[in-house]
Amino acid sequence: MSDLTIAFFDTKQYDKTSFEKYSKDSGVTFKFFETKLNEDTVRLAKGFDGVCVFVNDTVNAAVIDKMEKMGVKVLALRCAGFNNVDVKYAQGKLQVVRVPAYSPYAVAEHAMAMLLASVRRIHKAYIRSKDFNFSLNGLTGFDLHGKTMGIIGTGRIGRVFIDICLGFGMNVLAYDKYPAKELENKDNVKYAELDELFENSDIISLHCPLTEETHYIIDKKAIDTCKKGVIIINTSRGALVDSEALLNGIKERQIGGACLDVYEEESDLFFEDNSGHILEDDTLARLITMPNVLVTSHQAFLTEEALENIAETTVQNILDIFKTGECKNSI
Ligand code: NAI
Repeated sequence: MSDLTIAFFDTKQYDKTSFEKYSKDSGVTFKFFETKLNEDTVRLAKGFDGVCVFVNDTVNAAVIDKMEKMGVKVLALRCAGFNNVDVKYAQGKLQVVRVPAYSPYAVAEHAMAMLLASVRRIHKAYIRSKDFNFSLNGLTGFDLHGKTMGIIGTGRIGRVFIDICLGFGMNVLAYDKYPAKELENKDNVKYAELDELFENSDIISLHCPLTEETHYIIDKKAIDTCKKGVIIINTSRGALVDSEALLNGIKERQIGGACLDVYEEESDLFFEDNSGHILEDDTLARLITMPNVLVTSHQAFLTEEALENIAETTVQNILDIFKTGECKNSI
């Protein structure tokens, strides 16, 4: 088999480093494009055996049709979530593979990092100390010990996050469409209906995929049901949270804080340096001005371990499809 060629979209330097390491001598060659995949850029995929994309590339019916016409055989997602791909439409046209888990620890640890930064005002203290302002006024936090964490989605990341929370002496209320048997007997963890979770959690962390069912799972109604002062953590997908409702909840003091690694309109903003531009998105701009909102730019996955796993699994997925026609990570 001659070398397989893969068009790699939305490339960042850290992708190149790990993918070059794992593709070396594997028979897979990546051509790295900085642009995202969409209807305008799909023509770049001409002549390639496969296409490799990330979370903010657009793989809709039109893009899939064009790739099929060009003879692209495989769409390799270098991420777990696939809400940006019309998977149903791709059936029979291209093989779609993904990296189901690269490091649940990376994401769960980032969720806790954001929470701790937020409740202990580390983001404020860091800036003050840089200016030799050692005043403690306004930096009062609260203990996580004894508080209730509501966790929506108890899959790989959710479970790691549960263990982290238990390590802090928290109680966990969990909600999942498909509850995990082994969690039912765990001390200080209880499955609950969504409303019960909203009513009783001091902090709520989202670890479910974005689907039609989970779209805006945190909306105005949910926010109104929550305890006053609730903190919302979203390291999953932006559109799990209605950002307008979140902003209003913060303005009304119903929400005590938000830790956002993802944002529903992130695709044109996140991962890029927009510091020289006027931000068009008023909701995001207003959220960022809030002292109790922390925003990171879809960074939760970004650890050395996760990047290595992503590259290794993606290269193996591509080889599996071309060598055997099958792959355990097919969608
Ligand atoms: P997973 O598939 O192991 O777990 C997802 C869980 O959500 C499952 O237990 C599933 O039963 C549950 N679920 C499905 N539909 C649901 C519904 N309607 N209501 C409640 N729960 C539901 O996935 P994993 O690896 O834990 O990842 C979770 C999410 O984290 C991914 O879907 C992805 O969107 C996000 N993610 C974010 C990253 C980041 O860098 N910020 C990196 C990796 C994943």
